Amino acid sequence: MTAAHASHEFGERDRSRLTLTRGEGAALFDTFGRRYVDLGATHGVGSLGACPPAVVRAIQEQAASLIYLGSGYASPVRTAFLERLTGLLPSRLSQVFLSNSGTEAVEAAIKIARSATGRPKVLAALRGFHGRTFGALSATWRRELREPFEPLVPEFHHVPYNDAAALEAAVDERTALVLLEPVQGEGGVHVARPEYLRAARQACDRSGALLAFDEVQCGLGRTGRNFAFERSGVVPDLLTLAKSLAGGVPIGATVTSPEVEARFRGSHHSTFGGNPLACAAGLAALETLVQGRLAERAERLGAGVPAALEELPTEKVRELRGVGLIWGLELRDRAAPVLAALQGSGYLAISAGASVVRMLPPLLITEEDWSAGLAALREAVLRA
Ligand SMILES: Cc1ncc(COP(=O)(O)O)c(C=O)c1O
Repeated sequence: MTAAHASHEFGERDRSRLTLTRGEGAALFDTFGRRYVDLGATHGVGSLGACPPAVVRAIQEQAASLIYLGSGYASPVRTAFLERLTGLLPSRLSQVFLSNSGTEAVEAAIKIARSATGRPKVLAALRGFHGRTFGALSATWRRELREPFEPLVPEFHHVPYNDAAALEAAVDERTALVLLEPVQGEGGVHVARPEYLRAARQACDRSGALLAFDEVQCGLGRTGRNFAFERSGVVPDLLTLAKSLAGGVPIGATVTSPEVEARFRGSHHSTFGGNPLACAAGLAALETLVQGRLAERAERLGAGVPAALEELPTEKVRELRGVGLIWGLELRDRAAPVLAALQGSGYLAISAGASVVRMLPPLLITEEDWSAGLAALREAVLRA
């Protein structure tokens, strides 16, 4: 099968050459019926596994009654979804703008922050990733993603991650927004220290800037809490969610407080944002996350990772980082041969940069598949 006409030919070639046609739980199947355990949760979207039954049912029922409705009309399913989502969050995070992807969720956060504060400056972190539309790309750090499209949006700056002093020094009275991932995913899996997030909160409060946490990848159970910020107790002014929020159906959400919303000037809108199909899928996905106690499961399954990988030699491995079910194994060499070996033995993982093997398994992965996956990873690293 050729991917000659697929849009991912724009610089993101289909490296694995694998054609996957079906999924069930944490497993994906190729055209020959071969089973692969998805250790990459299809880039974080598949936290609930492939085809979560409640989400499938919700999509089928919603599609049979109303697929699309613009956000200008009231929609019971949208109301139910938003009530469920905000019911999981601290009470001040009660206002939600719905869109269709992570980058759109970030784009909205940037626009809300600039408009609500009347300030231009946006601070993001080294190794941060926030998406590929112009605002989100301006906050994204990697030079090769940015350079071909310059000039980007002005007044975006990057500060070292987990360095409270550098952040405090950079936040000033021109700063609209500090935008951070509580766990950096694409940047190689780096976990923010709680005191760093607390320092970010204080710096924002002191200067009147808004604090946004981008939980597009690390949110919704993955870190062992429903939301990654819960690990630090720091509540942001803006929260971005996407990926697994609707169990695989495109969606993005930018959550903020009534106070920030009241200061917003201008308008922002999305034709498809908040459509009934995505909201029905989102409602079922949140029920699956909560009723299945998947955050607790992520915490429990993740706790065994260091022991499972501890004997790997330091000539091969630079560092293991992670929490819950988001892990990065930084190798001294390239990750690609390890990923290829894993694929050969029936496990799909993804990279984060050239030398990090990233694992984002579905939160409902069985203990057998997870420990066998970690054993396969250990084997692949030893043989590389
Ligand atoms: C933290 C973070 N923010 C934003 C995005 C962009 O999301 P999307 O690809 O849905 O636009 C990603 C995608 O990987 C991400 O990891």
